[in-house]
Amino acid sequence: MAEGSIVLGVPRETFPGETRVAMVPAVVPVLAKAGVQVVIERGAGEPSGYSDAAFESKGAAVVTRADVFARADLVAQVRAAGANPETGRDDARSLRRGQVVVAMADPLGDANAIREFAASGATLFALELVPRITRAQSMDVLSSMATIAGYKAVLLAAAELPRMFPMMMTAAGTITPARVFVVGAGVAGLQAIASSKRLGAVVHAYDVRPAVKEQIQSLGAKFVELPVEAADAEGKGGYAREMGEEFYRKQRELMARVVAESDVVITTAMIPGKKAPVLITADMLHAMAPGSVVVDLAAERGGNVDATRAGETIQVGGVTLIGPLNLPATMPYHASQMYARNMAAFVQNMIKDGTLALSTDDEIVRETLVTRDGDVVHAAIRERLGLAAATH
Ligand code: NAI
Repeated sequence: MAEGSIVLGVPRETFPGETRVAMVPAVVPVLAKAGVQVVIERGAGEPSGYSDAAFESKGAAVVTRADVFARADLVAQVRAAGANPETGRDDARSLRRGQVVVAMADPLGDANAIREFAASGATLFALELVPRITRAQSMDVLSSMATIAGYKAVLLAAAELPRMFPMMMTAAGTITPARVFVVGAGVAGLQAIASSKRLGAVVHAYDVRPAVKEQIQSLGAKFVELPVEAADAEGKGGYAREMGEEFYRKQRELMARVVAESDVVITTAMIPGKKAPVLITADMLHAMAPGSVVVDLAAERGGNVDATRAGETIQVGGVTLIGPLNLPATMPYHASQMYARNMAAFVQNMIKDGTLALSTDDEIVRETLVTRDGDVVHAAIRERLGLAAATH
C-alpha cells in the first residue's frame, strides 16, 4: 500500500474507563485513498475489540506511543484537553507547535483546560463543535455517540425493571406492556424511543422544541402535550435554548402525572454549554410505583433529576435512579467504528491537494478550531476565559 503524505497518529486512550479508540481497521484504507497513512499505538484498539494484526492487515503501522506523537502530522483521539483533564496533560507535553489534534475536548465545559492545552502550540479541533449542517452530518460525533447512549439507556432500564417491556398473552395470563416516558427527544431521546418500541413498550415523549412532535409520532410514540409556552425554545443550530426557572417549575408540575404513571423514565434534556435543567424532583420520584426505573442521561451535565449521582445507581424511595457516565464506552466496538467514520470524514474535509489545508473559510474548520499557535482562537471560548476577541 502506498504511503500517504499525511500521517494520522492514533494513541491509546488514557482517560479512566475509556475503552474507545479513534480509528478502526476498516477506515484505514478509506484514509489511505485520501493520502493519509495511519500509525497507531500498539494495543490501542484492544479494549474495543480491534487487534494490532487487524490494523496492520489494513495498512496501518503499529508503533510505540512516543512514535505516534513523533510521526503524526495529525493526532486523532477520542479525548483530549478538557475531555481528558488529568492524564491528557502528559499528551500535551508530547505535542509540538503546529501539530494538529482532532478529538472531543469538552471546549465549552472546561475552558481552562483549553487554555492550558493552547500552551503546547498545537492546533486543536474539538469535534463537539462540528456545526449542525447537512454537509457535516457524517462528522457529527455528538449524534453518533448519543445514538449509542439512547440505545444503552433502554437496556439498562429493562435490566433493572422488575417487569417485562412487551405485552405478552400467555397461558399464564396476560402481561401488560411497560410504560416508558422519554424526556428530551434529541438524538439520544429518539433512539431511546425507538429502542423501547422495539422491546414492546408503550412510549410517551416530550421535548421543549415543538418541531420534534412529528418525529416522536413517526416512531410510534405519543407526544405529551404540556400547556407551556415553548414557541421560542429552539435556538441556533436546532439546539434547545435555555428557558427561565419559572418555565422549568411549570414543566415539572405538568410532567408530574406522566412521570407517576410511568414504569421507566429516560431523561436526555440538555442545553449546549450549560448545566442540564432539573426536570424531575425527589417528590416526583416518590410518586412513582415501587420498582420503577429512571435513567438520567444528563448525569454528566449535572442531571435532569435533582437526586442523580453521576456514575452511580441509587434507590430513592422504591425507585432505582441510574446516573450513567460515558455509555458509549460500554459499547466500544460500534462506538469506535462510528467515531472513526466521523473522524475520517472530518479529516478528509480538511485535505486539499494532498495536504492539510486548515482554511477558516470553511465553516466546519472555523467552528471547530479551538487553539492555534499557542492561543485560544475560538470566539466563544475566549469569551468564557475573559479574553479579548482574537485578531487572527
Ligand atoms: P441535546 O443533546 O443538546 O439535547 C437533547 C434534547 O433535549 C433536545 O432535543 C432538546 O430540545 C431537549 N431539551 C432541552 N431542554 C428540555 C426541556 N426542558 N424539556 C424537554 N426537552 C428538553 O440535543 P441533540 O440531540 O444533540 O440535538 C438536538 C438538535 O440538533 C435537533 O434539532 C436535531 O435535529 C439537531 N441535529 C442536527 C444535525 C445536523 O443537521 N447535522 C445532527 C444532529 C442533531
